Amino acid sequence: SKRIFHRALSTTVMMKAIVQNGFGPPQEVMQLDHQVPKPILKRGDQVLVKIHATSVNTPDWLAAYGVPRALRPVFGGLLCRARNRIRGYDVAGVVEQVGSKVDHVQVGDEVMGSIEEGAFAEYALVPGKNVIRKPDKISMEEAAGAIMSGITAHSAIYEAAKVQQGQHILINGASGSIGTFAIQMAKAQGATVTAVCSGRNAALVKSLGADYVVDYTKEDFTASETTRYDIILDNVLNRPYEETKKVLKEDGFIVPNSAGDTDKFWGSLPQMIIHKPKNYPVPDCNPSRENLQKVAGLITSKKVKVVIDRVFPFEQTPEAVEYMASNRGKGNIIIKIQQD
Ligand SMILES: NC(=O)c1ccc[n+]([C@@H]2O[C@H](COP(=O)([O-])OP(=O)(O)OC[C@H]3O[C@@H](n4cnc5c(N)ncnc54)[C@H](OP(=O)(O)O)[C@@H]3O)[C@@H](O)[C@H]2O)c1
Repeated sequence: SKRIFHRALSTTVMMKAIVQNGFGPPQEVMQLDHQVPKPILKRGDQVLVKIHATSVNTPDWLAAYGVPRALRPVFGGLLCRARNRIRGYDVAGVVEQVGSKVDHVQVGDEVMGSIEEGAFAEYALVPGKNVIRKPDKISMEEAAGAIMSGITAHSAIYEAAKVQQGQHILINGASGSIGTFAIQMAKAQGATVTAVCSGRNAALVKSLGADYVVDYTKEDFTASETTRYDIILDNVLNRPYEETKKVLKEDGFIVPNSAGDTDKFWGSLPQMIIHKPKNYPVPDCNPSRENLQKVAGLITSKKVKVVIDRVFPFEQTPEAVEYMASNRGKGNIIIKIQQD
């Protein structure tokens, strides 16, 4: 049996991945590991993708730090230890193998898709229902940046807010990965957009179409005596619901897209439960083929562009996750895994 074990080991193909052990600062708990078994196609509905680019999203840094603590069983398993975990959701790459039940992508196709965890690696198994062919006009980096943040912004603007022509929407946290998509999608719908971010990002949000900018370091958007909004997309949720409500029109509503301050996680949750679903619609990130196509379509038709802040080399993934944790990102933070 020892000989069989050795033979099994010798046939296992290895890959590089960024592996997390324990919770804490990404540079301490995430490491490049050259000896991670390459995933093997197990089911007919899967696609094996060689990943060229991925991106960092809020859940990646929350999972690295293990905050809020209440979510540690999710991030780290029942014992909350976070052993040998590979983070990352967004996959842009080339198909290496296709399961028998998948017929919409083929070996060699450039694709974009989503997985539940494991994109900070050279290869990943992507469910067929969460992957599409990547349009040629979209680069690997752009595709990687458009998946979780593009789909969440799409859900916020088109499904939760159902933004209509002529409406006035305020987007709190407008210069981040979701905000930069949301501004452009709201403009594509014909809305007036007020973007809330720090002054250093005013030019960026204006270049994406924002009509007005509120610099939160100088001005409190909930203190306005005159402006009233149809919709507030709140990517920060740092203000109590009662205060934000004051600047809504009578039939206006909030789309909450954050758990709020991670130290006060439970603070905003009761509000979501009380007000959901009618006047507190929460966006979600459902990376179905249909939703991936919708976001890709907005990009190829040039209604929306993917704002890329920084592209990190693969081995600097922990730095990229730390940068995301700083809350200072301007658009999307990309990790380049392979040269295209
Ligand atoms: N519903 C879902 O499925 C889903 C999926 C992913 C993420 N999310 C949530 O979406 C939220 C936004 O994510 P993201 O990826 O866009 O984050 P991000 O890229 O880190 O963006 C942060 C944004 O917040 C701004 N900001 C920071 N402090 C602020 C303050 N006090 N007031 C106003 N703006 C402030 C930053 O602007 P400055 O740099 O100018 O300060 C920046 O524009 C997160 O809370 C995340 O949990 C939801």
